[in-house]
Amino acid sequence: MASHFSRVAFTYDRTRYHPPEVSGRIASAFTAPVEKLFRDPLFLEIGAGTGRISVPIIARGYRYIALDENPAMLEVLRQKVAGVSRKVRLLEGDARELPLEKDSLHAVIAVHFWHMLDNWQKALLESLRVLRPGGFLFEGWDQTEGDNEDWKIQQQWKEILQGLGYPLVRGRHQARLAEVEERLIAHGLEPKTKMVADWVEPRSPRVSLEMIAERIYSFTWEVPEEVFRPSVIELAHWVYQSYPDPDTEYPIHWKFMLRGSRVP
Ligand SMILES: C[S@@+](CC[C@H](N)C(=O)[O-])C[C@H]1O[C@@H](n2cnc3c(N)ncnc32)[C@H](O)[C@@H]1O
Repeated sequence: MASHFSRVAFTYDRTRYHPPEVSGRIASAFTAPVEKLFRDPLFLEIGAGTGRISVPIIARGYRYIALDENPAMLEVLRQKVAGVSRKVRLLEGDARELPLEKDSLHAVIAVHFWHMLDNWQKALLESLRVLRPGGFLFEGWDQTEGDNEDWKIQQQWKEILQGLGYPLVRGRHQARLAEVEERLIAHGLEPKTKMVADWVEPRSPRVSLEMIAERIYSFTWEVPEEVFRPSVIELAHWVYQSYPDPDTEYPIHWKFMLRGSRVP
């Protein structure tokens, strides 16, 4: 997993692009409830990656610790925040062993994160340990309705893989979110989910194809090369036959979902 992130660090932002005004709305959704209750709050983001979520919050001057186990992802983040704020600390480390004091943070943020690691339960316990009473645990993710050309191309690839004898497993992220929610409730928290931003991304079939071919998405990473290569050739044929102009853009309707819980 870590080596894949090193490979995609400089292209990662393409996978989950947020238009600037959407980034702003997402940042406000994380900061507003915390600021209402705490003065000069300290945020921690686990699995901060290249800073898609953290950079707009850091730019507003909040105290922010961005932790990630992958040095290449953190390096991209470091370049983005250089000179932006002195209140940011970048930490290379494992979310399952946070080098931080108990009760020392006002909010912990985890976006597209839990499904990335084994023993996520440990990372969850660590997040709850470092949060002070009344602090916020925020989980976030991007979601589409599924009924768009990009999704159809991904589904076609799944069918091609199936035909090559490789069943692709998808839906791990949603399944993990449900597991985490169950665990939060067992810990006495009351997670609440809401949509905090929505937007439309125009994307052409050619770009949808490239994102699979370049193994940008994590669901492509475990497909063995000997299956992956012929599957992409077959998918490319299908795309060029199905779309007279593969550069015509189609809309993808996105939502950013936020689940917030407060530590008792
Ligand atoms: C899918 S990316 C999400 C990045 C960012 N949160 C976002 O939404 O753009 C997941 C990130 O988690 C990091 N990661 C995976 N396992 C980790 C762990 N055990 N501790 C800290 N970071 C980890 C990866 O290096 C990667 O940068």
